[in-house]
Amino acid sequence: MLDTKAIRQQFKILDTTVYGKPLVYFDNAATTQKPDSVIDTLSDYYRTLNSNIHRGAHYLSSTATERYEQTREKVRSFINAAKSCEIVFTRGTTESINLVASSFGRAFLQKGDEVIISGMEHHSDIVPWQIACEQRGASIKVIPFSDKGELDLDAYRSLLSDRTRIVAVNHVSNTLGTVNPVKEIIGIAHSYGVPVLIDGAQSVSHIAVDVQDLDCDFYCFSGHKMYAPMGVGVLYGKEQWLDKLPPYQGGGEMIKDVSFERTTYNNLPFKFEAGTPSVGDVLALASAIDFMQGIGMDNIAAHEQELLQYATQRLLAIPDMHIFGMAENKTSVISFLIGNAHPYDTGTLLDKLGIAVRTGHHCTQPIMDHYGIPGTVRASFAVYNTKEEIDNFITGIERIAPMLS
Ligand code: ALA
Repeated sequence: MLDTKAIRQQFKILDTTVYGKPLVYFDNAATTQKPDSVIDTLSDYYRTLNSNIHRGAHYLSSTATERYEQTREKVRSFINAAKSCEIVFTRGTTESINLVASSFGRAFLQKGDEVIISGMEHHSDIVPWQIACEQRGASIKVIPFSDKGELDLDAYRSLLSDRTRIVAVNHVSNTLGTVNPVKEIIGIAHSYGVPVLIDGAQSVSHIAVDVQDLDCDFYCFSGHKMYAPMGVGVLYGKEQWLDKLPPYQGGGEMIKDVSFERTTYNNLPFKFEAGTPSVGDVLALASAIDFMQGIGMDNIAAHEQELLQYATQRLLAIPDMHIFGMAENKTSVISFLIGNAHPYDTGTLLDKLGIAVRTGHHCTQPIMDHYGIPGTVRASFAVYNTKEEIDNFITGIERIAPMLS
């Protein structure tokens, strides 16, 4: 059992009252709240260490550079990458995927080639591939999923061919909560010699990730969904792939030598880190990793599974309740509709009771098309959530359901 009381004390925002009611924050798949340690690291950076990294011949710059590079090493160890040069800091998952789609597209996509994605991708793992395919005359193939919310691996096998250049799938669906069998998906792609990118935006704060065990070629995630600030994210790429990709953005730091005739590029990972990075956010990412590791990823997963099972069972007892995404292997995300009620109405009424959920298509319009619905209400839990909050949420739904029918 986790000491959720002690954990919650590290998040002052959780004491907020909304319209006179205690805040129940169930929008964690959109962004998690930040513990004091993360906020302190960020503000301490600006108060005591603010400077630009890597090039300054002075104390503040060299100390900030050291901490920045220590964070790279911490991230390497967090996802068990082989080398810290395989960790590239970006602004978030979206930028990480755009980087790979753009650079990989320019280097490896030709007319007639194919990119495989899944039907349950976030728009940020669809649109960058569409842009790359459009530019190169390639096309996208989509792995279908069942009503339960599980990918059809036989259909996936039949999509792979000698035209496939890359596979991109999420580890966990932000809308359905499904934990996809990415290790198997990667193994199958590799038997065709095809690399795999995993969108890990919804996984890294919920389950332990080992990129070497998965054997993925690229793994992308955001700081702000794992208790760190907005504005920092990570692209992990195997060294042999990152070496082969051309730069994404040109500018400072990513070069070795520049003349008007020719530029040579810096070594990994700096080749992909053009311009001044978000140093304070990167340092705070280290504190977020410390926070999670202090609790233990297995303890976080066990607590969130308990919340998921409890909330699912209580929701299903409500008449006319429909949950979208009942995969065997899920993280703590529940998308639902009550009868024919519009998700926005449900979300607005819950908000008046202090309960923060997300409504709409969650940047996954193809999932909504699959079910023929305009959107869902989504409740998503993090390590600081409690069964008491779920009880509040259920009481709220029981109260508003008659108003919605
Ligand atoms: N991608 C984020 C979500 O699922 C914003 O809510």
